[in-house]
Amino acid sequence: MLKLNRAASFTCSQQLGHRLSTSAPSLIIFCKSKMFHSVIRQSPRATLFAAQRTFASSQFAMAQSALYKAIQHDHVELADYYNNYKKMTSAFQPDEAQKWANQFIWELARHAIGEELVVYPAFEKHLGAEGKEMADRDRQQHLDIKQELYDLQNMSTDSPAFEDKFTTLWGKLELHVKEEEMDDLPKLDAAISAEDAESYATSFQRTKHFVPTRSHPSAPDKPPFETIAGLLAAPLDKLGDLFRSFPK
Ligand SMILES: [Fe+2]
Ligand SMILES: [Fe+2]
Repeated sequence: MLKLNRAASFTCSQQLGHRLSTSAPSLIIFCKSKMFHSVIRQSPRATLFAAQRTFASSQFAMAQSALYKAIQHDHVELADYYNNYKKMTSAFQPDEAQKWANQFIWELARHAIGEELVVYPAFEKHLGAEGKEMADRDRQQHLDIKQELYDLQNMSTDSPAFEDKFTTLWGKLELHVKEEEMDDLPKLDAAISAEDAESYATSFQRTKHFVPTRSHPSAPDKPPFETIAGLLAAPLDKLGDLFRSFPK
């Protein structure tokens, strides 16, 4: 059993059958598994992330494939971009906050479509009926997240509603990311070879270069139609990126 703080409680690993819960302000994370035992003192939210990262890096260190690491790397970057946006907002630096919001939108749009084109088809191919269910559930969650992202990208950080919208989006993304890292991807890793995982990781990274950089929730979410929609939308998105500001 893993203990974390306050209301936060989520399944940390189906494979281990453990749960995370918290006890603030000081966070004692313990796991009856002999592999995981640590004490962390941070804010509850920071601790939740730290726990997730620490857990992921320690618990699955031996099993994480190249694909898992590529996806997790993006998740960590998205968390950093969101946290930087929050910091700049708190510091009353709206221009900088806008840049980090732009960076977040740019990365999440590419990440989501990269997963839909490469990772979710891999669930279906290697995990049978369960993989199909996982892919369908993840696509449904993506649709919701892409709709939130679409709304967000059409607002300015000057808008009073922007921060609430971003917070809502982040909450949904956070839950989705946990499922991917703690349930879906470990299952895929267990079903494929290291070479296959390496090949999927390469495809995922390559795909992100040509997909749209803005959210298009009405576009198809399965290849080949998503690929075509992406190819059509991507040049316009990239043209628009020239007129948006990003962090240096
Ligand atoms: Fe995803
Ligand atoms: Fe993801």
